[in-house]
Amino acid sequence: MVVGVVKETFPGERRVGLVPAVIPAILKTGAEVLVDAGAGVEAGFPDEQYREKGARIARDRGEVFAAADVVCMVRTYGANPGGAGDLELYRQDQTIIGLSEPLTELAPIERLAQTGVRTFALELVPRITRAQAMDVLSSQATIGGYKAVALAVDTLPKLFPMMMTAAGTIAPAKVFVVGAGVAGLQAIASAKRAGAVVYAIDVRPEVKEQVESLGGKFVELPVKAAEGEGGYAREQTAEERAQQQQLMADTVAECDVVITTAAVPGKRAPRLITAEVVRRMRPGTLIVDMAAERGGNCELTKPDEVVKENGVMILGPTNMPATIPQDASRMFAKNVANLLGLIIKEGVLTLDRADEVITGTMLTEHGDIVHAFAREVFELPPLEHAASE
Ligand code: NAI
Repeated sequence: MVVGVVKETFPGERRVGLVPAVIPAILKTGAEVLVDAGAGVEAGFPDEQYREKGARIARDRGEVFAAADVVCMVRTYGANPGGAGDLELYRQDQTIIGLSEPLTELAPIERLAQTGVRTFALELVPRITRAQAMDVLSSQATIGGYKAVALAVDTLPKLFPMMMTAAGTIAPAKVFVVGAGVAGLQAIASAKRAGAVVYAIDVRPEVKEQVESLGGKFVELPVKAAEGEGGYAREQTAEERAQQQQLMADTVAECDVVITTAAVPGKRAPRLITAEVVRRMRPGTLIVDMAAERGGNCELTKPDEVVKENGVMILGPTNMPATIPQDASRMFAKNVANLLGLIIKEGVLTLDRADEVITGTMLTEHGDIVHAFAREVFELPPLEHAASE
């Protein structure tokens, strides 16, 4: 059994799927580890460090795909449209682990399935306690929430903390975090640590306590709660969303920074800040829209661009974890190694089909899309033996 890791090819992607520190744990499962030369360099992990931990270094990615039974990466073809060259390197019996955008677009996932590989799409790791240690979306959203605040600190024309100096007293920045899931909670904690006064909102009322425990003020709006399953929100009706837009408008207009993270799995990001509300914000204020890749929580957001409207800046960075590649990779790799520990026993790939973490994360196998929820999202008929049934 060989576990491989390849260098990322997505533009700007500096993370790596496995870091040297997790190699001993993988060796313990009975597998060998093969690393594409230079795979970890951009994240700060030279080949030598992998070698010291007991991995072998391959000449290139072709050698990794040819030799490895399981290939780990940050982005499989599903999440890296320019990476189609890999499809020819995949082997039918191979298992691929990585982010795969399993619920966004059908065509790339179908292509992935057609290669015959088994894909574990890391976005699908169920949000249950036992799988927390494998939950890449959470670990990377934590990094993203932090970076959103770092960007705001760097971009805002005013200070975050209150300062009482001989040159006068500076009022603290007011930060409004919309959506208090993983990214939002980290944004609240980071903004608070940076000295801001932090407000937050979510449609799941149960997060109020978490917001307050981090020192944030929960903004209570008389909107209908929208709890979904598994700690996620459900999609709001158009009427509920319109009501929320209106009720939030005053808070948005009063703040210096708005960090938006509102998301519902498999759906377009809810549009909560209209252009009209942006025009009510003061010049010099700022929106960091973390949902830019999913269509944005703000009507004016453009992915990976800085939009300026009436002196207000709207940032839509789509891959912030890749800008902190060292720790993002450490956390990502730890998640992946934990998943490997679940599926490799004594050097053999051992898939317990009764384990909801295994079946709930498996996207493709034997030429089919086997994940029941992904099939539902793409309106495909249920499979007789879907992995997640
Ligand atoms: P999550 O599912 O843990 O949190 C989303 C939160 O939004 C939930 O608490 C949910 O209740 C809340 N929400 C849903 N609808 C809402 C509404 N109408 N009003 C207020 N709150 C609402 O997701 P996570 O992991 O925190 O990620 C949040 C977003 O950030 C996602 O869109 C994700 O793709 C994105 N993200 C972006 C990164 C970047 O680099 N731009 C990095 C990591 C995550």
